[in-house]
Amino acid sequence: MKPLTIAIDGPSGAGKSSIADVVCKKLNILHLDTGAMYRAVGLCALEMGIDPTDEAAVSQMCEEGRALVDVKYQDGQQLTLLNGRDVSPLIRTQEVGGAASAVSRYVPVRRMLVRRQQEMAAAQPMLLDGRDIGTVVLPDATVKIFLTASPEERARRRMLQLQEKGDNTPFEEVLAEVNARDLQDTTRELTPLRQADDAVLLDSSSLTFDETVQAILTLVEEKYGKQ
Ligand code: DC
Repeated sequence: MKPLTIAIDGPSGAGKSSIADVVCKKLNILHLDTGAMYRAVGLCALEMGIDPTDEAAVSQMCEEGRALVDVKYQDGQQLTLLNGRDVSPLIRTQEVGGAASAVSRYVPVRRMLVRRQQEMAAAQPMLLDGRDIGTVVLPDATVKIFLTASPEERARRRMLQLQEKGDNTPFEEVLAEVNARDLQDTTRELTPLRQADDAVLLDSSSLTFDETVQAILTLVEEKYGKQ
């Protein structure tokens, strides 16, 4: 039997990564946050003084093997490596997020990262979360989920996160950012965010965190049997 593969795609702010972490602990499988790999390429460009929106320069950087991205696990936790160096603590900033969004539009970047993601998922049971997992990376995934929530609910969750950090950006502003990011993700030319035809749509707008985790575990059990 092929290793279990779970694909979770969806817009930013749907809670994919934190939900996926808990699902993976319950199932005792590894979680690959593919966004972290795009962030590592974005960081690489910034560190090398390459403009992340310069398609030719970013493509050349990848083709010459100057942005080697890999992942390893320590106590089940993902460490994202750039040219052998653990860059996990450096990739969560707004600046790196913006660079990741820019470089993720280029063919050589996607080709390089998708190949590595497929190799990893072929070797062990895994859950991958991202934007193109069910459509491109693992079209034959055991379970495909498109996890979303209304823009208003995602903006509300994001606003609460910001408030915890002492940032009081008003709701309307956060909502405008969520809508802008959705537009960018769904209209880009290369692999825009879209629900795979055979993915289950899970709208978490009116579900708690635990209910969302449980809904995913139930889907896995239905498709793959009890773990
Ligand atoms: O999920 P995230 O914010 O960490 O992702 C960072 C960027 O990478 C985001 O702009 C979308 C892009 N991305 C992608 O194009 N494909 C993926 N599988 C994962 C992320």
